Amino acid sequence: MLTDTPAADPMPPRPAPPQTPRPAVADPGTVAARAAAPPMLVVNDFSLSYGAHPALKGVTLEVPAHSVTAIIGPSGCGKSTLLRAFNRMNDLIPGVRTEGEIRVADLDVRTADVVDLRRRVGMVFQRPNPFPKSIYENVVFGLRMLGLKDRAELEARAEASLRHAALWDEVRDRLGRSALQLSGGQQQRLCIARCLAVEPEVILMDEPASALDPTATARIEELVLDLKTSYTIVVVTHNMQQAARISDRTAFLLNGELIEYDETGRLFTSPGEKLTEDYITGRFG
Ligand SMILES: Nc1ncnc2c1ncn2[C@@H]1O[C@H](COP(=O)(O)OP(=O)(O)OP(=O)(O)O)[C@@H](O)[C@H]1O
Ligand SMILES: [Mg+2]
Repeated sequence: MLTDTPAADPMPPRPAPPQTPRPAVADPGTVAARAAAPPMLVVNDFSLSYGAHPALKGVTLEVPAHSVTAIIGPSGCGKSTLLRAFNRMNDLIPGVRTEGEIRVADLDVRTADVVDLRRRVGMVFQRPNPFPKSIYENVVFGLRMLGLKDRAELEARAEASLRHAALWDEVRDRLGRSALQLSGGQQQRLCIARCLAVEPEVILMDEPASALDPTATARIEELVLDLKTSYTIVVVTHNMQQAARISDRTAFLLNGELIEYDETGRLFTSPGEKLTEDYITGRFG
């Protein structure tokens, strides 16, 4: 039976929670280590409906830590809905009902404290959405929400996040300027830096480069490949070349059902399902 999801909690300022240790990965580079490590994300027979409209139907998949997973499929198939389910962003939509289980490392998403969940599972959207504040204040926004006040630490974490998001060299001498003066590509890297500042374990990206030009897109793709050494990334994309370039595994959704989920190379070269083959060869969608 479908059950109502709990209402979204407000996000009051509160002390920074202790850092949760990342799952132990002896040597994340080896295939054996990846196979032995517990998955970072587990989706188990998960369904979601908007009122009477089913958007996800019995989706089951596991995402290994320190990997990039691409979600592909035609418009309206449920990609954004699945992405938002990982940090309960769908809770904000009235009438949403869910069934089944999603786990993020040791957390059951249904019962998790939503502030803690969203610190551990950050999100980057299709359109860069910096706040109308300075570059610096954008990056430290989440840290201030978590109650961090020490100026030296805020500055150190802002610099580290901007460096990790490959933006530091472009903004180091204008941190006090409005974030809205940055280019679209810079704004998107700023949003990634804002997400990194609170040290998430998982980063969700919903078509993060679709509003950007080819050069800015290439920078975001390089960044995703760099970030996966420290984070687990799930990225929605309509661009199949992009999915092939940046992801380790690809999930193909159609009408809310997971049709196929496999290593990216295999899914694109020898898909197991006719529907996948039809989609990736452009026969529909
Ligand atoms: N807030 C909402 N209220 C009601 N229905 C919604 C809502 N958001 C999405 N849906 C419906 O759920 C289904 C899945 O939508 P979703 O946004 O997840 O698709 P998508 O695969 O991300 O599509 P796109 O590629 O166009 O972004 C669609 O039928 C959509 O109309
Ligand atoms: Mg979408």
